[in-house]
Amino acid sequence: MSITILAIESSCDDTSAAILKDGKVLNNIVATQSVHQKYGGIVPELASRAHQQNIVPVVHQALAEAGISMNDLDAVAYTRGPGLLGSLLVGSSFAKGVSLSLDIPLIEVNHMEAHILAHFIDDPRPVFPFLCLTVSGGHTQLVVVEDYLSMKVIGETLDDAVGEAFDKSAKLLGMPYPGGPLIDEYAAKGDPDRFTFPPADIDGLDFSFSGIKTAILYFLQRNLKENENFIQENLADICAGIQNSLINMLMEKLVKASEETGIREIAIAGGVSANSGLRGRLESERKVHKWNIYIPAMEYCTDNAGMIAMAAFYKFRSGAFAGLESTPSARLKIGR
Ligand code: KG4
Ligand code: ZN
Repeated sequence: MSITILAIESSCDDTSAAILKDGKVLNNIVATQSVHQKYGGIVPELASRAHQQNIVPVVHQALAEAGISMNDLDAVAYTRGPGLLGSLLVGSSFAKGVSLSLDIPLIEVNHMEAHILAHFIDDPRPVFPFLCLTVSGGHTQLVVVEDYLSMKVIGETLDDAVGEAFDKSAKLLGMPYPGGPLIDEYAAKGDPDRFTFPPADIDGLDFSFSGIKTAILYFLQRNLKENENFIQENLADICAGIQNSLINMLMEKLVKASEETGIREIAIAGGVSANSGLRGRLESERKVHKWNIYIPAMEYCTDNAGMIAMAAFYKFRSGAFAGLESTPSARLKIGR
């Protein structure tokens, strides 16, 4: 199908635009906001403001690199949610402006569904039905993916997301936001068995990460009382212990979900799927459970418009267009 789509992603702190043509993502421009680093977390109002500044340059760059003009567009897509409302409004208003001025269809995309559909940007592509562990700064979900536009959540976190657990642990260690990638970096040099943190005891396929955060806080307070340099002297081992404990909790439920559903096509998605420890563990579990595993390219793990473009392509094919009354939804669920 020869169609050209401009996709916009602005759900959190990355402003991104991508062009899809003939079912292929041609590019993926991302402007990351560094303004939040010094605050130790995302400041919603600053994020909205930075999206306003970044969105036009990012879209212009995507069009220029793809060698197309606005008039070549057949549709424009945007992230409807979940995310920060003020951030989502920037992308939604921009996309509506493009739709209205060019008289082309508007497509609204669910951010979590898009993280999963990032697996269809490049080969190898998972075979339906597959199981996807979606792990990001805002979400931790186990999803049965029956088709491009048919997904069912079978497990999710009852409190913090696993990315949040990474970032909050990193903050306790004095690292800047987002600390997940830094924990990953230090963990690679540490001993994962020296410090262990107890897993949450939650029934079924749901997760909980708030307890481990408290356990880490008490562990640090206890040790810092005896040695004020405890963190600096043991940073790699502490990071390896935290990362290993979080990965254990994810893998336990993923294995359980695969056994309960009988699905052995296993994918991971979302920002935390960039974690090298998680990727390594998935590879070793693959051998034990005879799974086929799918891990997106790094560029499509964290927030990006390429995945929004891919999801928009399948919606375009099925004629799922939105009206101009379409509004962002901060807590949009999968399947809505
Ligand atoms: O999907 P994403 O870019 O944004 C959300 O939709 O939340 O995910 C961001 C999250 C952050 O919590 C960040 O710390 C985490 O992904 N992250 C990582 C790594 N890279 C990104 N966590 C652990 N290890 C990494 N290598
Ligand atoms: Zn995301």
